[in-house]
Amino acid sequence: MEQKPYTILYVDDEEVNLRFFAATFSWEYNILTALSAEEGIRIFVENDIDLVVADQRMPGMSGVQFFEHIYGLNPEPARILLTGYGDLETIIQAVNHGKIFHFFQKPWAEEDLTRAFERALKIRTLQQENAGLIVHLQKTNEELSRALHEVEALTTLLEEENQLLRQEVNDSFNFDDIVSKSPVFQEVLQRTARVAATEATVLITGETGTGKELLARAVHRISNRRQKPFIKINCAALPAQLIESELFGHEKGAFTGATSARPGRFELAHQGTIFLDEIGDFPLELQAKLLRVLQEGEFDRIGATRTTKVDVRIIAATHVDLNAAVQQGKFRADLFYRLNVFPIHTPPLRERKEDIPLLVRHFVRKYALKNGKVIRRISKKTYQLLQTHHWPGNIRELENVVERGVIMSKTDKFKVPPEELGNMPVTGGAENGALNSLEENERLHIIRALQQTNWRVTGDQGAARLLQINERTLQSRIRKLQIRRPKEFDD
Ligand SMILES: Nc1ncnc2c1ncn2[C@@H]1O[C@H](COP(=O)(O)OP(=O)(O)OP(=O)(O)O)[C@@H](O)[C@H]1O
Ligand SMILES: [Mg+2]
Repeated sequence: MEQKPYTILYVDDEEVNLRFFAATFSWEYNILTALSAEEGIRIFVENDIDLVVADQRMPGMSGVQFFEHIYGLNPEPARILLTGYGDLETIIQAVNHGKIFHFFQKPWAEEDLTRAFERALKIRTLQQENAGLIVHLQKTNEELSRALHEVEALTTLLEEENQLLRQEVNDSFNFDDIVSKSPVFQEVLQRTARVAATEATVLITGETGTGKELLARAVHRISNRRQKPFIKINCAALPAQLIESELFGHEKGAFTGATSARPGRFELAHQGTIFLDEIGDFPLELQAKLLRVLQEGEFDRIGATRTTKVDVRIIAATHVDLNAAVQQGKFRADLFYRLNVFPIHTPPLRERKEDIPLLVRHFVRKYALKNGKVIRRISKKTYQLLQTHHWPGNIRELENVVERGVIMSKTDKFKVPPEELGNMPVTGGAENGALNSLEENERLHIIRALQQTNWRVTGDQGAARLLQINERTLQSRIRKLQIRRPKEFDD
């Protein structure tokens, strides 16, 4: 069949009328015909009809009823009624209800119908174009609002970057990797810068994770000794005998296993800096030997007959109260005074909350880079959450929380779910001396075990094995203590 632009459906119960209609109009339109209203409805549903013509008088459903029906199916195609004399009532009603476009009395004239078809189809085309325009307009609108959103997102990103850049300018000034803007910590940095330029012994005190080691390294880096070694020894990690040989070295045969002579860290640090971390744990029996290095700059290797001289700058750090240790007889008073020439105290994070947003951004950037993630935004809620936390583990705890958050993030927005902090061993205790209840401690202990096993309870890698208790017992404790696995970042 030749493609014509419009399809007209004609419904009439007299076959001869159908044939005549088709013969008259099929040179210009696709003509479909039906011998009853019911058949007309079927054809109307199955085809894409642009215009419907129907006879009013048909057995069963009348033309007007037929139009009511197809109007309910699809009101768009125009409807034209053909009538005989005496149908005026029905016609008036139909016209008033808007269900027909035009009506003609039979017998109809070809030009009249042609003109009516043209008009109806023109209107139909315009209506369709209109609908297309509306859809287009809606789409354009959506695109615009999406663009607007992107601009907003970019603005926040730029603002954040700007802050980071400003921070970087600050950093490059002196302390590259130390992030802070709080007045308390700025003062710490100033003290640090001042003492760094001298040869003085420095004692850094502060809670765990407050950046003591970071400061110690900064002192060395700014000092005139920066080209020489920075040697660290953790006094808490080694037993006393090892500390002695590690620090002072030994001669060949000084003790069993000393198959050759070996220099200690004081010698390795010659002309540089030695960092005695956790000096509070320095063995009492070695303190006199340490004092001698501090005072005279000399010591004896273990088993040596000759004294060794070194030029070493000493920085010590501790999270315990050395004064109290002196009172308790665990620390020599003379050594304490010798170390305490220039004390620097690193304040806990909860006393410099202004630094939290900076630190969060710093660590987000650091760990996004490390883990190959793209993070463009930080949730406001997360900022608030992190700012209200107590941070008993200080910056190290914050760093760990951010690292976990970055690793777990699934979108470009950084978030920390509150459960992540709720499960941390937190608050009070340490500060006011109050103890946790036994149950609270049990809860924290179980959470720690679960964190280590990635929240696996059963099996070889499970927390029950780690805690050496029955799996069922652990499961019932978890329920009883209402321990819940932190939700992953899902929104
Ligand atoms: N101001 C800061 N800016 C950036 N990172 C920091 C800052 N302070 C601390 N950190 C980071 O926090 C972590 C802990 O710092 P550091 O090891 O210096 O603390 P500490 O006081 O020596 O802790 P501990 O007493 O447990 O040994 C490190 O990864 C360090 O890089
Ligand atoms: Mg440390």
